Amino acid sequence: MASERRFFVGGNWKMNGTKKSVDEIIAFLTKEPLPADIDVVVSPPALYVPYVRDKLPKGIGVAAQNCYKETKGAFTGEISAEMIKDVGAEWVILGHSERRHKFGETDELIGEKVGHALNSGLKVIACIGELLSEREAGKTEEVIFKQMKFIADHVGGNWSSVVIAYEPVWAIGTGKTATPEQAQQVHVQLREWLKKNVSVDVAIQTRILYGGSVNAGNAADLGRQGDVDGFLVGGASLKPDFVTIIKAGHA
Ligand code: 13P
Repeated sequence: MASERRFFVGGNWKMNGTKKSVDEIIAFLTKEPLPADIDVVVSPPALYVPYVRDKLPKGIGVAAQNCYKETKGAFTGEISAEMIKDVGAEWVILGHSERRHKFGETDELIGEKVGHALNSGLKVIACIGELLSEREAGKTEEVIFKQMKFIADHVGGNWSSVVIAYEPVWAIGTGKTATPEQAQQVHVQLREWLKKNVSVDVAIQTRILYGGSVNAGNAADLGRQGDVDGFLVGGASLKPDFVTIIKAGHA
């Protein structure tokens, strides 16, 4: 990790949790102080966001896993960025591959959501990543650059409130982690893209996280890569391993 970028570890709980298991996660997150020089953000299902925000110390950020592009209105089942802010959470994950591929969210909609969330004062973890078929067809760059463009077009002057999460879809929940070299290679390409299409400053300052089967055993090697500025962790963020990952990645 480059020293000018603060290491960032996010835990995406996805659609997991009960009142009991949420309390267990809060307990292991607060058992001992986490390293002060790392940004840690957890993302519970929306129903638990206010509870988790109230229980965790302010030093740990809380993110919703999604939100809509409007403030309020007749959008049954949706939540707004303004509501997330209203209950005290600071972040939202947008563009996760499960939203893209299981719920059909388009690049365009994700871009609009990113713009609205930022304008509402939320910080955004914006996710991108290619399918296995796209990687095998040699289309990784084309796919992730297109996803980046739709996001970047809506960020405006809010880059300091954006973290990019590169999550190759073939590595999510499969136990098949990208090698540190594969992750580093794509992160460098993304930083180059930012340099060319946004600015040198944004390219240097924006955190690019890796996500996809990060665990306590592989975090250190991944985190040692110069352009891997942290992780977005799924399954392992539900277990005490998450604390090991936070510490290992930073070692
Ligand atoms: P896993 O860590 O379970 O592979 O999930 C990664 C992810 O999708 C985080 O957003």
